[in-house]
Parts: sequence; structure tokens; C-alpha cells
Amino acid sequence: MSGCCLAEFVGWSALAIIAANSLYNVCHFIYTTFLGRLLGHGIDLKSCGPWAVVTGATDGIGKSFAKQLAAARLNVVLISRNSTKLQKVADEIKSEYSSIQVKTIAVDFTESQKIYNTLRDELNKLQIGILVNNVGMLIGFGQRFGNIEDDKGIHDIINCNVLSMARMCHIVLPQMTQRKKGVIVNVGSLTSTIPTPYLTIYGATKAFVDKFSRDLAAEVKSLGVTIQTVHPGYVATNMASHMKPSLVSPHPDTFAAATLNTLGLEQRTAGYWTHKIQLYFTDLANFFVPRHVLEKGAIKHFGELKKAALKKTSR
Ligand SMILES: NC(=O)c1ccc[n+]([C@@H]2O[C@H](COP(=O)([O-])OP(=O)(O)OC[C@H]3O[C@@H](n4cnc5c(N)ncnc54)[C@H](OP(=O)(O)O)[C@@H]3O)[C@@H](O)[C@H]2O)c1
Repeated sequence: MSGCCLAEFVGWSALAIIAANSLYNVCHFIYTTFLGRLLGHGIDLKSCGPWAVVTGATDGIGKSFAKQLAAARLNVVLISRNSTKLQKVADEIKSEYSSIQVKTIAVDFTESQKIYNTLRDELNKLQIGILVNNVGMLIGFGQRFGNIEDDKGIHDIINCNVLSMARMCHIVLPQMTQRKKGVIVNVGSLTSTIPTPYLTIYGATKAFVDKFSRDLAAEVKSLGVTIQTVHPGYVATNMASHMKPSLVSPHPDTFAAATLNTLGLEQRTAGYWTHKIQLYFTDLANFFVPRHVLEKGAIKHFGELKKAALKKTSR
């Protein structure tokens, strides 16, 4: 084969591979987002166990997960810091789904050791079908890491976003593997997939979620336990206070419903369809775009978001 023919052959082969890969991705997107559930595929949560546990369950995405799981006829354990808010959400769920049992556990995940004794004692009494590790906090938005004045906040975010996930998985996994049934949903963030200067510690905690969750999934798959990693983009909650509900930043109910529809169909997902498209392109950008270009874009993006947030709070 002459040099020219060889180059032509390589070019066409590369194009064919890219076309086949793109076609696969489009079909996979349509299946996991729209068709899978309609065809009755995915996980029957009721068959995994009668109880669902949700951390960070009194607001935002966690509250929406709790409501959707109750709607799926699972009893729910709500875990957050504030007893009054916990009771309010428990009452809301009980008034809507009278046959559902709701338990509340008030703990602060910024604490490290002691709370896990309480959680282990309480959760070991229940047959847990699904755990949603949703709790998360954010510090130092738009600040240089070295300029964060809140020393305790650095410990708090690692305890809340990282340690809580590892310890909660460690508590429920023995009963799930023993029964060869169970689902754990670990909520990360799209920030784990892109450079996040000026959001450094938050992005890093979410990178832990990605690595930990994916490796754990591989470890327990053969034992009948499904671990799903979810990387939301913006969702219109208190945490993303600058965002109004829209296609780019869905209402948390919309986000939680879409994510639960992907259970058993996708091990790593962004949950909601517009976020899935973002995840696809960020993964692609990480491959094709030089890191310093992505960093420049991220600094501009987070700078603009900080300005918008400051403008909103000064109104
Ligand atoms: N919203 C977004 O745009 C977005 C994007 C990507 C990823 N995420 C991730 O999604 C998850 C949920 O976020 P969200 O936006 O729904 O947050 P949110 O609206 O701020 O709600 C956080 C929930 O966690 C509880 N919580 C906070 N700190 C806690 C602590 N130290 N101990 C116990 N409970 C605590 C809060 O309840 P109390 O205050 O009553 O304790 C509340 O129920 C987080 O992991 C977040 O990182 C969010």
C-alpha cells in the first residue's frame, strides 16, 4: 500500500470509529433517558428491601429523593442536622403517603466519629434497600483556597462530603452483601469532571466521590449490590442560589425523578438529560482540549457566577 493510500485508510477508519462511537452514545442516551423505564428495565427498588435512607433529606435534592422514594412505596429514613426541619419533611411525606413509615435521625455530618455509632445502631435495625448519600456542603465559592478564613470549614467539608459517604457505605454494605441485594446512590457533581479553580476544595471532595464510588461499584457488583455515581450539573436549590429552575438547572423534584429512572441502566450518570449532555462534552473536552484552556474557561465561568451571586445578595 502506498503512503497516500495508507493515510486515506487511517483517515476513513478513524472517521468510522468516531461515527460508530457517536451513534452508540446517542442510542445509549435515548435508552437510559427515555426508553429504559418505559420498557420496564432497571431496578425494582421494592425488591431490594423495604427501607430507603437519604442523607441531607430536609432540602433540595435530598428532600426530593426522599419524596420520590416514598412515592415508590418505600419507608424512608431522613437524615439531616435540624430536628424541626426533619419533622416537617416527615409530616409532609406521611400526609401524602399514609401507609409509609418515616424515621428521622438528626446528626451533623461535619462531626467525625461519634455520629456513626448512632447511625450504625439505628440503621442496623432496618432492612435497607437503597441508601442515597446526598448530603453535601460548599465553602469558599469564588475564593482562592489560601484566602479561606474559615479553618473549621475545611475540616467540615471533608467530613460532610467525603467521610460521610465512606462511612455510610461502610455501615450498610454488610447487610446488603449478605442479602445479595441493595442500591447505593452517591451524589457527586459535574465539578468533579472539570477543572474548578476558585472552587478547589469542593471540586476535590466530589472527585473523591467519583473515584470511590466507581471502584466500590466494581468491587460489589458480583455480590448483588448496585452502586451508582450521580454527577449533577446545576440544580435549583439553596446550594445553587443564583439559579432559577430551567432546562439547565432543573427543579430538584425533576432532577431526582430523572436520576431514579436511570437506576440499573447507568452506573455513572449526570441524572437529568441536559446534565448528561454536559457530562458527555466535559469528558470529551478533557480528552481533546488542553488543560490550560479548560482552566481559563473555568476561571471565567466561576468569576461570572460569583459576580451574579453577589449582585443577587446585594439587592
Ligand atoms: N444544587 C446543585 O446545583 C448541585 C450541583 C451538583 C451537586 N450537588 C450536590 O447535591 C447534593 C445536594 O445538594 P443540594 O443542592 O440539594 O443542597 P441543599 O439544598 O443545600 O440541601 C442540603 C441538605 O443537606 C443537609 N445538610 C447540610 N449540611 C449538613 C450537615 N453538616 N449534616 C447533616 N445534614 C446537612 C441540609 O439540611 P439541614 O440544613 O436541615 O441540616 C439539607 O437537607 C450535595 O451533595 C451537592 O454537593 C448539588
